[in-house]
Amino acid sequence: MKNNLKTTEMNRGEFLRSLGMSSAALMSFYCMGTLTSCSSSSNNDPQPNPNPGTGSGKVDFTLDLTTADYSKLKTDGEFVYKDSIIVARVKGGSYVALAKACTHAGTDVRYRLAQDDFLCPNHLSEFSKTGAVENGPASQPLKVYKTVLTENGNKLQVTE
Ligand code: FES
Repeated sequence: MKNNLKTTEMNRGEFLRSLGMSSAALMSFYCMGTLTSCSSSSNNDPQPNPNPGTGSGKVDFTLDLTTADYSKLKTDGEFVYKDSIIVARVKGGSYVALAKACTHAGTDVRYRLAQDDFLCPNHLSEFSKTGAVENGPASQPLKVYKTVLTENGNKLQVTE
């Protein structure tokens, strides 16, 4: 009877230690019932990206059209992807930069020289050079970026 009395007098920690639980396991056990009191006061969750289509920050990059990666942009109808943007040399030799992700389900759009527009190959939405929807199922326009040709036509700057 004396042994039983002693067991009931053990506090919770002593009882758990008697079961062979480590200090870390004990801490976890205590925290299970009181998560808020054991959680860290700092919030380590990253903030949601306020500009999800463009990575972090503003768009501002320059393509060197003399390099192998971008020299095709000296030809009408050609296009490249840079980060979240499609940059195309459209009919007539001007440049258009749009968000590349179709607003329907996110597939990369392509420039079509014959139609002088942008096509999503997934469900065939069509967008104008201003990013406007010409044919659905997409219902929202593509974001448009500014393009400026510099250095005798050898560099193309793309900005918000
Ligand atoms: S993802 Fe572009 S039309 Fe559906």
